[in-house]
Order: sequence, then structure tokens, then C-alpha cells
Amino acid sequence: MSEKSWAEIDRWFIDALEPRDEVLEAALRTSEAAGLPPYQVSAAQGRMLFSMARMVRARTILEVGTLGGYSTIWLARALPEGGRLITCEADPKHAAVARENLARARLSHVVELREGRAQETLPRLRDEGRRFDFAFIDADKPSNAEYFDLALAMATPGAAIVVDNVVRRGAVIDADNADPNIEGVRRLRERVRNEVRVHATVVQTVGEKGHDGFLLAVMR
Ligand code: SAH
Ligand code: DHB
Ligand code: MG
Repeated sequence: MSEKSWAEIDRWFIDALEPRDEVLEAALRTSEAAGLPPYQVSAAQGRMLFSMARMVRARTILEVGTLGGYSTIWLARALPEGGRLITCEADPKHAAVARENLARARLSHVVELREGRAQETLPRLRDEGRRFDFAFIDADKPSNAEYFDLALAMATPGAAIVVDNVVRRGAVIDADNADPNIEGVRRLRERVRNEVRVHATVVQTVGEKGHDGFLLAVMR
């Protein structure tokens, strides 16, 4: 089956399952108009992140890699009253667009956007004693293993950690591919190997974003 059909099937279901959402659509339009790369999760994946955050009854969420805040909006909407989400973004231009999108979504009071490299932000959050029930790691792929470690250090019992883009159209098992993003996924796999604190699996996805996947780890 072709990638075009995967995208059509995504749209066919989402048309029926999701009411049109002006806030999410405006976030996509604003991000595109500002020249941000179209790296956000699909609508179907956004709903999946929302659902997983609900399933673990997350009250605190960590996101690494905000871009224009599209996945941030999905995740923040999964929170109960009084819940909080902290999202990390290194690019000031992306952060500015995200702030605008989060304000339009009326989520500015729920979301704390920490501007700066996550390599510095996450150890600071850990040292502040922060704890998270759900983490979505979706920034620079070479740092995946490092972010996973830090998310694990801040995870509450039963917390879920999701890492985006771990399949990359299968490139991850192509031994000749030395792309640093792919190497980052391979290092993550080695990091999770025999990690006794989590149950981990891969969720391969096809759809609007082609063939890709999430690593899903749940704290024992
Ligand atoms: N989660 C978003 C997409 C994120 S794209 C969504 O699905 O809607 C990846 C983002 O990570 C980009 O905005 C990029 O600027 C940011 N990023 C890259 N390296 C980073 C780093 N070291 N620290 C924090 N953010 C980083
Ligand atoms: C791309 C997709 C992503 O989900 C991401 O986080 C980074 C890059 C891409 O399509 O290249
Ligand atoms: Mg991604």
C-alpha cells in the first residue's frame, strides 16, 4: 500500500472521529506562515498522545521539543484541572510561535515553556525535584538516550515515556545508514535494553507522516 493511501486513511478516520478544531488548525496555519518546518505529529498521533496521557491519568507532563506547540496543545488538553505541562524548546523563533498558539488555545496558564537547550533544561528540572507522569521526547534525535535518562529520573511510578520518530521509514535497521539522527535512535535502543525500571515497546505508525514510530516505555 502506498504512502498516499496511508494519509487518505488517516484523514478518512479523523474526519469521522474528530470534530474540526479551529484552535489546532490555526496553530498549523500560524506555524506554516512563520516558516516553521512541518515536523509536528499528525492529528491521529496527536489524539494518540492525548489518549496515552489520559490512560496514565497524567497530572504533570514533560515535553522535549515544542516547535509551534501543536503536540503541546494535544497533551495539555489531556490534563485535569490543576495539571501542568513543561515544554522545552531551543529555538527562540519556534518558542515565540508556540507562545502565540498556546495563548490562542487558552493554555498559557497550564503550559510552562522553557526556552533553551533541553540538555541544560532537563538537568535543571531534575535538580528542582520535578516529577512527571508522562513525557514526550521529540527534539534533536542524537540526544534521545540522554533525554530518556533524564525523563526516567523524573518519572513517577506508572509514568509513560514516549519517544517520537524511532523508525524513520525503516532506516533505523539499515546498517549502512550513519545519519546522526538514526544513530541517536540506535543509542536509545541500547540505553533501553535491559533497563529494569521500564516495560518498553515500539509502536510503528503509518499515515500522514509516512512510516515511522514511537518508543513507548512504562515505569514498572
Ligand atoms: N513536538 C512537536 C515537534 C517538535 S520538532 C510537535 O509534534 O508538534 C523538534 C523541535 O525540537 C524543534 O522545534 C527544534 O527547534 C527543537 N529542538 C532541537 N534541538 C533541541 C534542543 N537541544 N533542546 C530543545 N529543543 C530542541
Ligand atoms: C521530522 C519529523 C519529526 O516528527 C521530527 O520530530 C523531526 C523531523 C521530519 O519529518 O524530518
Ligand atoms: Mg517528531
